[in-house]
Amino acid sequence: MKKMLSAVLALTGLLVLPAMAQTYPSKPVTMIVPFAAGGPTDIIARFVSEHMSRTLGQQIVVENVAGAGGTTGITRAAQSAPDGYTIMMGHMGTHGAAPALYPGLKYDPTALVPVGIAASTPILIVASKKFAPNTLQEFVAYAKANPDKLNQAHAGIGSVSHSTCVMLNGQLGIKPTAVPYTGTGPALNDMISGQVDFMCDQIVNLAEQIRGGAVRAYAIASPERSPALPDVPTTKEAGLPDYQVIAWNAIFAPVGTAPEITARLNDALRKALADEGARNRLLNLGAVLPTDSEQTQAFLGDFVKAEVARWNKALAAAK
Ligand code: MLT
Repeated sequence: MKKMLSAVLALTGLLVLPAMAQTYPSKPVTMIVPFAAGGPTDIIARFVSEHMSRTLGQQIVVENVAGAGGTTGITRAAQSAPDGYTIMMGHMGTHGAAPALYPGLKYDPTALVPVGIAASTPILIVASKKFAPNTLQEFVAYAKANPDKLNQAHAGIGSVSHSTCVMLNGQLGIKPTAVPYTGTGPALNDMISGQVDFMCDQIVNLAEQIRGGAVRAYAIASPERSPALPDVPTTKEAGLPDYQVIAWNAIFAPVGTAPEITARLNDALRKALADEGARNRLLNLGAVLPTDSEQTQAFLGDFVKAEVARWNKALAAAK
């Protein structure tokens, strides 16, 4: 009898999970973006979630929960019920650099369930048009000669704009005054109006403003120029060859989310990345899209572990 009961329970258990996954999603899904609206994380989240919503047959609602370099929003998402109805758009900062900078971080990026990489985003050193130096070489000379005058915007400790500029400032031996924002969307507006001098930021936030002449681009920190910004020199061409860094954005789910659910989300993300319209929108802003093998959940899981280790080392060296 006991044996029969456990067989029934086991069978029920086996039937419950796929049934839940089969009906998922039966209501809108919230995607937490841990920075202000209009910035790079928000742009990528909205581009991919729009197409994913069509595949899933339910709307993905983007919710911006900014603060503490993105760790506030990721903490909120990580502590949500692991039922697939709250997911997060993390990035190189929240899931790579943050553990090195927040000893009391309330989530473990390597434990969250990886859904998939949405895009990689080359980093540029950019400045206000109201800021005097015209080239990277002039900027370096000015920064060294005027350490007290220089202001740098960033999106909070541990964000991409913060961590990548920590690397830059360490290489140049400069300590600009840091001005924190809830995201590089609002930071960019202040830089354009001349309230801050420069920042290190992701290409998707900058491409249109650089093409439109509103922002001065000193260099892109990649081995090659971006097809989206063919006139912007690489750091190597501009005289700073050792400054090489790229950011990325990826979707995660809370620990304990069923594999059937995250597999459905991964499938929807892959379909978004295969869609010509969604691809072109991202490529036009300079994003680098993951290859087929980089689109797996396993790839992202391994990648996050490597990124946490890499940023631990890089930020310790830059101190
Ligand atoms: C944003 O979306 O505002 C950025 O990704 C912030 C950053 O990490 O620099």
